[in-house]
Amino acid sequence: MAHENEIEDLEEASRREGWPSAWPAAVAGDSRAAGGVDVRSRALARRALGFALDSAVSREQAAPLLVQLAGADTRTLKLARAWIVRAASPGPIAAAAIGTLSLALRQVGTDGAVRLVVLGRPGAGKGTQCIDLARRLGIPRFSTGELLREVFTQQTCFGAKVQAHMNRGSLVPDRLVLRILAGRLAESGVTGRGFLLDGFPRTVEQAEKLDTLIAPKAIDAVIELAVRAETVIERLRLRARDDDTEATVARRLAEYDRNTVPVLAWYAARTPLLRVDGDRPADWVAMELRQRVDAIRT
Ligand code: AP5
Repeated sequence: MAHENEIEDLEEASRREGWPSAWPAAVAGDSRAAGGVDVRSRALARRALGFALDSAVSREQAAPLLVQLAGADTRTLKLARAWIVRAASPGPIAAAAIGTLSLALRQVGTDGAVRLVVLGRPGAGKGTQCIDLARRLGIPRFSTGELLREVFTQQTCFGAKVQAHMNRGSLVPDRLVLRILAGRLAESGVTGRGFLLDGFPRTVEQAEKLDTLIAPKAIDAVIELAVRAETVIERLRLRARDDDTEATVARRLAEYDRNTVPVLAWYAARTPLLRVDGDRPADWVAMELRQRVDAIRT
């Protein structure tokens, strides 16, 4: 019975997200169909689930077949795994499919790096959660909010411009943020162990530039910390950072809706987007984040 519910959930998710039922033989190049949707990784996710349901096929038999279908491409394998993490409530079939894809990734010799983006309204708990998560994963965390605050404490002309934007609660112009972040990513070696981006990208332009900056690598998953506006208003009232005044928080929330919600939509077609309810005690949120991120690591 539990299995039937899980199969129904997975079927529903695959319909909703347009996983093709037949292998997309005609898809060439980087396997992206019109609109940037990665068809091959979704088809691979369906295959992995099919193998998980078939008791006659062992994990050891299925993994090399998945490697072959993916053309030994780690990005396709990683994306397929993350689609399943996103689609399914944890259950034995999804767990088996995720395990097989992880084995396939080890067989192609993935670099083991994990590249994550964490987004959410101001006060959603991004900083709180990302510090813990990055430490656990052993990867550097880059918070553009913190990097920008470092810049304005240097009291340069550039810093003063940045500070004016932040104190108003408006976004700092893309070219300034990109210049700072690109420098930090280059210093830490983008292709190394991976990284966690806290509060970046906040505009579609930033997301597009990030894609180019890290190519041929790609973001493994985008995590949205979802929190109600009333909750963050209360949290920020209690914290009282310089930009936590009532008027500034209202503008930061409006900026999020106007500029960053479209980023989530932009990623939804390209990269698995994991939605985590941040409106709960911090420990509970941390526990769910750990479980979901562990499932997309090799
Ligand atoms: P930034 O510093 O990133 O601020 P923000 O996005 O507004 O987010 P906050 O730091 O306020 O909140 P958070 O989600 O990290 O939550 P936190 O863990 O701190 O950006 C500031 C400014 O920089 C922007 O307005 C913009 O001007 C500029 N900027 C930054 N990035 C940019 C970019 N990419 N492009 C352009 N401009 C950019 O938690 C908040 C509070 O809640 C804390 O007191 C915490 O203890 C508490 N809390 C956390 N979790 C919980 C929980 N689960 N339960 C109860 N309390 C909790």
